[in-house]
Amino acid sequence: MAGAVALSQALSYARDLKALYEASLARERDLTQARDRLRAAYQQSLQCAIDLKTTYQRLERAVFQSLLGLANALEAKDAYTRGHSERVAGLARRMALGIGLGRGTAETVAQAGLLHDLGKIAVPERILRKPGPLTPEEWEIMRRHPVTGAQIVAPLEFFDEGAVILRHHHERLDGSGYPDGLRGEMIPLGARIVAVADVYDALTSDRPYRPGLSHGEALERLLAEAGRTLDERLTTLCVEILADAVAERAV
Ligand SMILES: [Fe+2]
Repeated sequence: MAGAVALSQALSYARDLKALYEASLARERDLTQARDRLRAAYQQSLQCAIDLKTTYQRLERAVFQSLLGLANALEAKDAYTRGHSERVAGLARRMALGIGLGRGTAETVAQAGLLHDLGKIAVPERILRKPGPLTPEEWEIMRRHPVTGAQIVAPLEFFDEGAVILRHHHERLDGSGYPDGLRGEMIPLGARIVAVADVYDALTSDRPYRPGLSHGEALERLLAEAGRTLDERLTTLCVEILADAVAERAV
């Protein structure tokens, strides 16, 4: 009798154990499925994030191209400034490469050269095209264009270094520039490069109130500013690049 009770108890334990084992197997299966679903969802959200980033970058590039178009349109309206930004960009790129900056950074400097006067879009045409000296009030408006330009490109994350160049391209080594009156190496390198290229091109371009200087006269004026308002090393490099370009054209 006692043996039969013991057997029945043992059978009952065995059944409980089996049920427990099956329950734990089922829980493990559920867990595995949940883990798989979680992994799939994670991969999907990762892909979404990558797609979003790509779309955002494309959008930024599209906005940048529109801004380039806008800057070109602004310049093309005026015979005196037509092609100015293209020339500044080309010279700035060669200078950036000449001092050993990487291709990517040199390209940013060149792009900033293309857009450096974008902020002039907010300057009235009567001031932009005035065939004579500006009044102090008109200068005040004109001198806002570096900050305006930097504000326009500020939302473009990939162009943050370019925005800095736009803001500071009228700073001068001796602190006489604007908008912040920065001195010496406080002025970002890219802005010092664009400043030299901008001054050279402005000197050799016709203006409503004066004809452009010859290449030689412009170089003299440029060298006179070296170490005073313009970076000495960059100005010397610019003169060398321009001399090479003239020699190439003569061949
Ligand atoms: Fe400017």
